[in-house]
Amino acid sequence: MNASVLATPELMRCVHAATLAPSLHNSQPWRFALTGEAIEVYADRDRQLDVLDPDGRELMVSVGAAVFTLRLALRRAGRMPELAVLPDPDRPDLVAVIRPGQPAEPSAAVLELADAIERRHTNRQPFLPKVVPADVLEELRAAAGHEGAALTVAGAASRTIIAGLGREAERRLRARDGYRAEMGKWTRPAARRRDGVPTAAYGPWDALERLPMRDFGIVHPQRQRRAEKFESHPTIAVLTTGGDDPADWIRAGQALQRVLLTATTRHLATTPISQPVEIPGIREVLTDRRAGRFAQMVIRLGYGQPAPATPRRPVGEVVQQAAS
Ligand SMILES: Cc1cc2nc3c(=O)[nH]c(=O)nc-3n(C[C@H](O)[C@H](O)[C@H](O)COP(=O)(O)O)c2cc1C
Repeated sequence: MNASVLATPELMRCVHAATLAPSLHNSQPWRFALTGEAIEVYADRDRQLDVLDPDGRELMVSVGAAVFTLRLALRRAGRMPELAVLPDPDRPDLVAVIRPGQPAEPSAAVLELADAIERRHTNRQPFLPKVVPADVLEELRAAAGHEGAALTVAGAASRTIIAGLGREAERRLRARDGYRAEMGKWTRPAARRRDGVPTAAYGPWDALERLPMRDFGIVHPQRQRRAEKFESHPTIAVLTTGGDDPADWIRAGQALQRVLLTATTRHLATTPISQPVEIPGIREVLTDRRAGRFAQMVIRLGYGQPAPATPRRPVGEVVQQAAS
């Protein structure tokens, strides 16, 4: 047996971990193939949100988050993953090929980060009025930097501007043809549904409508949804990359997940907020072309009550195994 190959059950555990990654509307737009010596990760275009994400940028960010999680799960399993991103120009949906690589004992830092995979959930609750310490923000910036992206924590003025941009984006998105239908598709409650955003994860409504929380309840409203007061001084950060092509989107997804998991290890709650980067004109305001920094995601950070886990499709549904 090839030294770099892990037993199939171990590989399946790693893929299962990868499926716990965040994705736009919990669309889980990924497929995996076990080839015998590698895991191939594919974008599943049938799960692209055509209205919200016509270019498939957020689809690639979501798959990138799964790629990072897979790398981390392989490190936890005692391997040094070897990653090739977009290895075949003729197969643009082949996002990455990951070989388990040489055996390597996982460090305490790897184990701590991997331990957060199962505990990380998007949190749409109000956060406590508690400041995120500077050294923790520095760790988050470093996490983005490790993956070739940058995280900029907004100061008081830019925070207000970003929140305003988010609200304006939400307003324009709602006016977009097909927005409601698409939202309805990904929020339709069904007993055994394993994707989409369940009503339990919507969170309350921001009573002062200051924060650009995505309203998942516009088509299938949650019963007894309350309006609550959200934090008045939110911690908001913008994730950027040095380019804006599919490789950068995958990089952004890997960085996003590394930031979210690092935040989880520091007991921080997180909300990815993407409305401001879904309207090109508004995304442009957050992008600094002269400095070559392209906005990929806005992230809200803070301390809050635990958020519920959302469902995932079973691993068997997303993995294809090579015939032996
Ligand atoms: C590319 C991307 C965009 C997202 N945009 C938003 C958003 O605008 N608002 C929000 O509340 N959650 C957003 N999320 C979080 C997803 O809704 C969430 O990951 C998904 O529902 C699965 O839930 P979980 O993160 O708790 O596992 C986004 C996630 C990704 C990866």
